[in-house]
Amino acid sequence: MSAFVPALRALARPSVRRMVKPVVAQRTFVATPRRFAARPAFMEKEQPRLRLGAVAPNFVAETTHGKLDFHQYIGDSWCILFSHPADFTPVCTTELGAFAKLRPEFDARNVKLIGLSANGLAQHDEWVKDIDEVTGSAMHAGSDGSFPVIADETREVAWLYDMVDQAQIESLATAFTIRSVFIIDPAKKIRLVMTYPASTGRNTAEVLRVVDSLQTADKNGIATPVNWTAGEDVIVPPTVSTQDAKKKFGADNVRELKPYLRFTTLRK
Ligand code: BEZ
Repeated sequence: MSAFVPALRALARPSVRRMVKPVVAQRTFVATPRRFAARPAFMEKEQPRLRLGAVAPNFVAETTHGKLDFHQYIGDSWCILFSHPADFTPVCTTELGAFAKLRPEFDARNVKLIGLSANGLAQHDEWVKDIDEVTGSAMHAGSDGSFPVIADETREVAWLYDMVDQAQIESLATAFTIRSVFIIDPAKKIRLVMTYPASTGRNTAEVLRVVDSLQTADKNGIATPVNWTAGEDVIVPPTVSTQDAKKKFGADNVRELKPYLRFTTLRK
Protein backbone atom coordinates (compact mmCIF):
# COMPACT_ATOMS: atom_id res chain seq x y z
CA MET A 1 0.00 0.00 0.00
CA SER A 2 2.99 2.25 -0.76
CA ALA A 3 4.11 5.07 1.49
CA PHE A 4 0.58 6.11 2.44
CA VAL A 5 -0.12 3.40 4.98
CA PRO A 6 2.98 4.00 7.08
CA ALA A 7 2.12 7.70 6.87
CA LEU A 8 -1.42 7.05 8.08
CA ARG A 9 -0.13 4.82 10.86
CA ALA A 10 2.27 7.55 11.87
CA LEU A 11 -0.55 10.10 11.84
CA ALA A 12 -2.60 7.87 14.12
CA ARG A 13 0.15 7.89 16.78
CA PRO A 14 -0.84 10.25 19.63
CA SER A 15 2.65 11.83 19.70
CA VAL A 16 2.35 12.78 16.01
CA ARG A 17 -1.29 13.80 16.23
CA ARG A 18 -0.44 16.35 18.90
CA MET A 19 1.96 18.00 16.42
CA VAL A 20 -0.49 18.04 13.48
CA LYS A 21 -2.76 21.06 13.46
CA PRO A 22 -6.19 20.00 12.14
CA VAL A 23 -7.31 21.93 9.05
CA VAL A 24 -10.99 21.76 9.95
CA ALA A 25 -12.87 21.65 13.20
CA GLN A 26 -12.27 19.38 16.12
CA ARG A 27 -13.45 15.93 15.14
CA THR A 28 -11.35 12.90 15.96
CA PHE A 29 -9.10 11.60 13.20
CA VAL A 30 -10.05 7.93 13.06
CA ALA A 31 -8.31 6.42 10.05
CA THR A 32 -7.06 3.76 12.42
CA PRO A 33 -5.89 0.63 10.64
CA ARG A 34 -7.19 -2.35 12.63
CA ARG A 35 -5.85 -5.81 13.22
CA PHE A 36 -8.21 -8.75 13.07
CA ALA A 37 -7.93 -10.73 16.30
CA ALA A 38 -8.48 -13.79 14.12
CA ARG A 39 -9.29 -14.11 10.45
CA PRO A 40 -13.09 -14.17 9.97
CA ALA A 41 -14.32 -17.62 8.85
CA PHE A 42 -15.51 -16.34 5.47
CA MET A 43 -11.92 -15.29 4.67
CA GLU A 44 -10.70 -18.88 4.88
CA LYS A 45 -12.12 -19.55 1.40
CA GLU A 46 -10.69 -18.15 -1.83
CA GLN A 47 -11.91 -14.59 -2.42
CA PRO A 48 -14.47 -14.68 -5.28
CA ARG A 49 -13.39 -13.48 -8.72
CA LEU A 50 -15.98 -11.22 -10.31
CA ARG A 51 -16.16 -11.37 -14.07
CA LEU A 52 -17.77 -9.01 -16.54
CA GLY A 53 -21.20 -10.37 -17.47
CA ALA A 54 -21.64 -12.21 -14.16
CA VAL A 55 -24.56 -11.32 -11.91
CA ALA A 56 -23.41 -8.92 -9.18
CA PRO A 57 -23.61 -10.84 -5.89
CA ASN A 58 -26.59 -9.80 -3.81
CA PHE A 59 -26.28 -8.90 -0.12
CA VAL A 60 -28.22 -7.26 2.66
CA ALA A 61 -26.27 -4.60 4.55
CA GLU A 62 -26.57 -1.70 6.94
CA THR A 63 -26.07 1.62 5.17
CA THR A 64 -26.37 5.31 5.97
CA HIS A 65 -29.87 5.03 4.42
CA GLY A 66 -30.88 2.04 6.56
CA LYS A 67 -30.68 -1.69 5.94
CA LEU A 68 -30.99 -2.54 2.27
CA ASP A 69 -31.09 -5.47 -0.13
CA PHE A 70 -28.65 -4.60 -2.89
CA HIS A 71 -30.64 -6.00 -5.84
CA GLN A 72 -33.85 -4.37 -4.57
CA TYR A 73 -31.97 -1.09 -4.24
CA ILE A 74 -30.80 -1.33 -7.88
CA GLY A 75 -34.34 -2.09 -9.08
CA ASP A 76 -34.64 -1.07 -12.75
CA SER A 77 -31.70 1.34 -12.60
CA TRP A 78 -28.03 1.11 -13.37
CA CYS A 79 -25.82 1.18 -10.30
CA ILE A 80 -22.31 2.25 -9.38
CA LEU A 81 -20.91 0.46 -6.36
CA PHE A 82 -17.66 2.04 -5.26
CA SER A 83 -15.52 1.23 -2.28
CA HIS A 84 -13.11 3.23 -0.15
CA PRO A 85 -10.14 2.17 1.93
CA ALA A 86 -11.49 3.83 5.08
CA ASP A 87 -13.52 6.71 6.50
CA PHE A 88 -11.69 9.94 7.39
CA THR A 89 -9.00 9.40 4.77
CA PRO A 90 -8.08 12.26 2.47
CA VAL A 91 -8.37 10.82 -1.04
CA CYS A 92 -11.70 9.13 -0.25
CA THR A 93 -13.07 12.37 1.16
CA THR A 94 -12.44 14.16 -2.14
CA GLU A 95 -13.95 11.26 -4.10
CA LEU A 96 -17.19 10.96 -2.16
CA GLY A 97 -17.76 14.71 -2.32
CA ALA A 98 -17.20 14.68 -6.09
CA PHE A 99 -19.62 11.79 -6.67
CA ALA A 100 -22.23 13.45 -4.45
CA LYS A 101 -21.98 16.68 -6.44
CA LEU A 102 -22.50 14.69 -9.66
CA ARG A 103 -25.77 13.11 -8.45
CA PRO A 104 -27.79 15.10 -11.06
CA GLU A 105 -25.60 13.63 -13.85
CA PHE A 106 -26.04 10.11 -12.51
CA ASP A 107 -29.80 10.64 -12.02
CA ALA A 108 -30.09 11.83 -15.64
CA ARG A 109 -28.57 8.50 -16.73
CA ASN A 110 -30.79 6.43 -14.39
CA VAL A 111 -27.76 5.45 -12.29
CA LYS A 112 -27.95 4.89 -8.53
CA LEU A 113 -24.81 5.31 -6.43
CA ILE A 114 -23.79 3.27 -3.43
CA GLY A 115 -20.50 3.61 -1.53
CA LEU A 116 -18.77 1.21 0.81
CA SER A 117 -16.10 1.37 3.43
CA ALA A 118 -15.21 -0.93 6.27
CA ASN A 119 -16.33 1.35 9.08
CA GLY A 120 -19.49 1.58 11.20
CA LEU A 121 -22.53 3.78 10.74
CA ALA A 122 -21.61 6.26 13.48
CA GLN A 123 -18.27 6.92 11.74
CA HIS A 124 -19.92 7.18 8.32
CA ASP A 125 -22.39 9.78 9.64
CA GLU A 126 -19.59 11.89 11.14
CA TRP A 127 -17.46 11.55 8.02
CA VAL A 128 -20.33 12.63 5.74
CA LYS A 129 -20.50 15.88 7.75
CA ASP A 130 -16.79 16.43 7.04
CA ILE A 131 -17.24 15.60 3.33
CA ASP A 132 -20.01 18.18 2.98
CA GLU A 133 -17.94 20.72 4.92
CA VAL A 134 -14.74 20.44 2.91
CA THR A 135 -16.03 19.64 -0.60
CA GLY A 136 -19.24 21.70 -0.62
CA SER A 137 -21.30 18.58 -1.38
CA ALA A 138 -24.78 17.91 0.01
CA MET A 139 -24.30 14.26 0.88
CA HIS A 140 -26.02 14.10 4.27
CA ALA A 141 -29.19 12.00 4.39
CA GLY A 142 -32.21 13.58 2.73
CA SER A 143 -30.23 16.14 0.69
CA ASP A 144 -29.73 16.39 -3.08
CA GLY A 145 -26.38 14.64 -3.28
CA SER A 146 -27.20 11.88 -0.84
CA PHE A 147 -26.62 8.20 -1.56
CA PRO A 148 -26.17 5.22 0.77
CA VAL A 149 -22.75 4.22 2.09
CA ILE A 150 -22.49 0.61 3.24
CA ALA A 151 -21.12 0.10 6.76
CA ASP A 152 -19.04 -3.01 6.07
CA GLU A 153 -17.21 -3.35 9.37
CA THR A 154 -16.91 -7.14 9.00
CA ARG A 155 -15.72 -6.75 5.37
CA GLU A 156 -18.19 -9.40 4.23
CA VAL A 157 -19.44 -7.28 1.32
CA ALA A 158 -15.87 -6.28 0.45
CA TRP A 159 -15.01 -9.98 0.38
CA LEU A 160 -17.94 -10.80 -1.93
CA TYR A 161 -16.66 -8.15 -4.33
CA ASP A 162 -12.98 -9.16 -4.20
CA MET A 163 -12.02 -5.93 -2.45
CA VAL A 164 -9.90 -7.23 0.42
CA ASP A 165 -6.20 -6.76 -0.24
CA GLN A 166 -4.25 -10.05 -0.32
CA ALA A 167 -1.46 -8.76 1.89
CA GLN A 168 -4.04 -7.77 4.46
CA ILE A 169 -5.61 -11.23 4.42
CA GLU A 170 -2.23 -12.80 5.04
CA SER A 171 -1.04 -10.42 7.76
CA LEU A 172 -4.40 -9.73 9.46
CA ALA A 173 -3.28 -6.11 9.59
CA THR A 174 -4.39 -2.79 8.12
CA ALA A 175 -7.70 -4.04 6.86
CA PHE A 176 -8.44 -1.22 4.46
CA THR A 177 -10.73 -2.15 1.58
CA ILE A 178 -9.52 -1.79 -2.02
CA ARG A 179 -10.59 1.27 -4.02
CA SER A 180 -12.88 -0.33 -6.66
CA VAL A 181 -15.70 0.72 -8.99
CA PHE A 182 -18.36 -1.63 -10.34
CA ILE A 183 -20.86 -0.56 -12.97
CA ILE A 184 -23.90 -2.83 -12.78
CA ASP A 185 -26.76 -2.77 -15.30
CA PRO A 186 -30.51 -3.10 -14.62
CA ALA A 187 -30.24 -6.88 -15.25
CA LYS A 188 -27.78 -6.84 -12.29
CA LYS A 189 -24.91 -7.85 -14.58
CA ILE A 190 -21.42 -6.50 -13.90
CA ARG A 191 -20.42 -4.34 -16.86
CA LEU A 192 -17.21 -2.72 -15.61
CA VAL A 193 -14.69 -3.33 -12.85
CA MET A 194 -11.96 -0.80 -12.03
CA THR A 195 -9.49 -1.32 -9.22
CA TYR A 196 -7.34 1.59 -8.15
CA PRO A 197 -4.39 1.92 -5.83
CA ALA A 198 -5.17 3.48 -2.45
CA SER A 199 -3.01 6.48 -3.35
CA THR A 200 -4.92 7.34 -6.57
CA GLY A 201 -8.31 9.01 -6.55
CA ARG A 202 -10.69 7.96 -9.30
CA ASN A 203 -11.76 10.09 -12.28
CA THR A 204 -15.49 10.84 -12.08
CA ALA A 205 -15.57 11.95 -15.73
CA GLU A 206 -14.26 8.53 -16.76
CA VAL A 207 -16.94 6.75 -14.73
CA LEU A 208 -19.65 8.85 -16.41
CA ARG A 209 -18.01 8.33 -19.82
CA VAL A 210 -18.17 4.54 -19.43
CA VAL A 211 -21.83 4.74 -18.38
CA ASP A 212 -22.52 6.78 -21.53
CA SER A 213 -20.58 4.31 -23.66
CA LEU A 214 -22.37 1.26 -22.23
CA GLN A 215 -25.82 2.81 -22.51
CA THR A 216 -25.15 4.02 -26.07
CA ALA A 217 -23.74 0.61 -27.06
CA ASP A 218 -26.73 -1.25 -25.58
CA LYS A 219 -29.23 1.03 -27.30
CA ASN A 220 -27.60 1.19 -30.75
CA GLY A 221 -25.49 -1.97 -31.11
CA ILE A 222 -22.27 -0.01 -31.59
CA ALA A 223 -18.88 0.29 -29.90
CA THR A 224 -17.02 3.48 -28.93
CA PRO A 225 -13.43 4.42 -29.85
CA VAL A 226 -10.57 5.66 -27.71
CA ASN A 227 -11.38 8.74 -25.61
CA TRP A 228 -14.92 8.84 -27.02
CA THR A 229 -17.40 11.12 -25.33
CA ALA A 230 -21.17 11.31 -25.81
CA GLY A 231 -22.19 12.80 -29.18
CA GLU A 232 -19.03 11.78 -31.05
CA ASP A 233 -18.92 9.25 -33.89
CA VAL A 234 -19.10 5.59 -32.95
CA ILE A 235 -17.74 2.34 -34.33
CA VAL A 236 -19.60 -0.36 -36.22
CA PRO A 237 -18.68 -3.57 -34.38
CA PRO A 238 -16.98 -6.43 -36.24
CA THR A 239 -20.11 -8.59 -35.84
CA VAL A 240 -22.07 -6.31 -38.22
CA SER A 241 -21.38 -6.42 -41.97
CA THR A 242 -20.91 -3.13 -43.83
CA GLN A 243 -24.02 -3.95 -45.87
CA ASP A 244 -26.11 -4.39 -42.70
CA ALA A 245 -24.54 -1.28 -41.14
CA LYS A 246 -25.59 0.79 -44.16
CA LYS A 247 -29.14 -0.53 -43.87
CA LYS A 248 -29.19 0.34 -40.19
CA PHE A 249 -27.38 3.69 -40.08
CA GLY A 250 -27.91 4.97 -43.65
CA ALA A 251 -26.14 4.25 -46.96
CA ASP A 252 -24.13 7.50 -46.72
CA ASN A 253 -23.45 7.10 -42.99
CA VAL A 254 -20.83 4.37 -42.78
CA ARG A 255 -17.20 5.45 -43.31
CA GLU A 256 -14.91 2.51 -43.94
CA LEU A 257 -11.24 3.23 -43.13
CA LYS A 258 -10.44 -0.49 -43.19
CA PRO A 259 -12.85 -3.39 -43.65
CA TYR A 260 -12.64 -3.84 -39.86
CA LEU A 261 -12.65 -0.13 -38.88
CA ARG A 262 -15.91 1.61 -39.74
CA PHE A 263 -17.40 4.73 -38.20
CA THR A 264 -20.95 6.03 -38.15
CA THR A 265 -22.76 9.06 -36.76
CA LEU A 266 -25.71 8.33 -34.51
CA ARG A 267 -28.64 10.45 -35.65
CA LYS A 268 -31.02 11.65 -32.97
C1 BEZ B 1 -7.02 7.97 1.22
O1 BEZ B 1 -6.59 9.09 1.29
O2 BEZ B 1 -8.17 7.78 0.89
C2 BEZ B 1 -6.09 6.82 1.52
C3 BEZ B 1 -4.77 6.94 1.13
C4 BEZ B 1 -3.90 5.90 1.43
C5 BEZ B 1 -4.35 4.76 2.08
C6 BEZ B 1 -5.66 4.66 2.43
C7 BEZ B 1 -6.55 5.69 2.14
